Amino acid sequence: MISTRQEQRANLFPASLAINKKRLLNDLNAISRIGLGEHGSMTRLVFSIKELRSRQLLIHLMTQAGLKVHVDRIGNIFGRLNGGGPKAPAVIAGSHLDSVLHGGKFDGPVGVVGALEAVRTLKENKVGLPCPIEVACFVGEESSRFGFSTLGSSLLAGQVRMEDLANAVDAHGTKLEDVLASMGIYRDTLASLKRDPATVKAYLELHIEQGPILEAKKKKIGIVTAIAAPTRLKVIFTGQADHSGTTPMEMRKDALVAAAQLIGYIEEICREYSKMEQGRVVGTVGAMKIEPGVINAIPGKVELSVDIRSIAAKAKDRVAAMVKRRAREIAKQRGIALEILPIRAEHPVPLDESLLPVIREICEEKNIPYEIMPSGAGHDAMQMAKIARAGMIFIPSKKGISHSPLEWTAPEDICLGAQVLLETIVKVAYEKN
Ligand code: GLV
Ligand code: MN
Ligand code: MN
Repeated sequence: MISTRQEQRANLFPASLAINKKRLLNDLNAISRIGLGEHGSMTRLVFSIKELRSRQLLIHLMTQAGLKVHVDRIGNIFGRLNGGGPKAPAVIAGSHLDSVLHGGKFDGPVGVVGALEAVRTLKENKVGLPCPIEVACFVGEESSRFGFSTLGSSLLAGQVRMEDLANAVDAHGTKLEDVLASMGIYRDTLASLKRDPATVKAYLELHIEQGPILEAKKKKIGIVTAIAAPTRLKVIFTGQADHSGTTPMEMRKDALVAAAQLIGYIEEICREYSKMEQGRVVGTVGAMKIEPGVINAIPGKVELSVDIRSIAAKAKDRVAAMVKRRAREIAKQRGIALEILPIRAEHPVPLDESLLPVIREICEEKNIPYEIMPSGAGHDAMQMAKIARAGMIFIPSKKGISHSPLEWTAPEDICLGAQVLLETIVKVAYEKN
């Protein structure tokens, strides 16, 4: 008798199939030791030695698990468990191992190690699947070093043009395009990183929420509907460096006071927009370079990073336009020069509507309290959504804190998230193509 795919899944997926919690938490702890700093902070900036070491450890863990490992030119890692015929498109699950400067241990690694544990569980239990499953670790999801986010997944999804990288420079003046050129990635070879969408059945990402909703609502799982996207700018005010004791107040061309005015405006306008119906907009100036940056000189040049995000594209674009206009007004009033360099302007990304009910069904079957919600943070899923159906599973963040050493997710929540990911992978693998 020919059984349905659901029946096959029921046979192959015994109710007892469970991830190995201890192994998952051990691996997460091992990764967390790389880049550990004061007060439990985590620093694994993209292409730093620490970040490379974390990727090396992952390659080791994947190899040990018997997965077929592939590393692409930028350093994205894929650990594959074969299933189905050679042409069957893969279910990919993953996230990133790089971190922000002085961040936390959970943002990224939870999704990579959770996916690895899910696949190890399938392999150990000899669960035969109708398609391959791949664990993915994407390079450079965080924008802390170059101001450019989701680098590896953007390249994989064919979303990067060389000119997009022109203004991506780190705090030491290293250009991202030079780093890529050193790996043999330039205009002519960019396209070779792109993954054929026909080889991907779906992309799934387990991630900490990085916000306060799940904890506040006492929910254990978040099912993500859409991802807010950032517009990022570098704003440079150039006035005149001068003596702080001899220059009369009315003769100054102080670039830092201009920057301060703009920062105040960004807060004001985003507070207003956060109350509006057309979508909450948040705006942040997270980094600033002041020249000469000494106590006894008027700041002659200030470079600020501006990050504006929303789920509502129109509201985000409107706020970005208002910020640029206000910067021009401030520069004009103060008689100083202004340069605005675009870093990246992305569109908010809806996630796949057909994956949401799959995750919801798992939560309902297991009586897990869940919330259907958007993501305010960016993720590799927003790039993968451009070449495949993409879904995300959130787990609670203590007090909603993230990008901070205080970032925390309870071990039992991490294990539950990995278990839900495992079951989602199996359900999606058995969906008809
Ligand atoms: C990634 O963590 C982001 O900046 O949203
Ligand atoms: Mn992050
Ligand atoms: Mn992340």
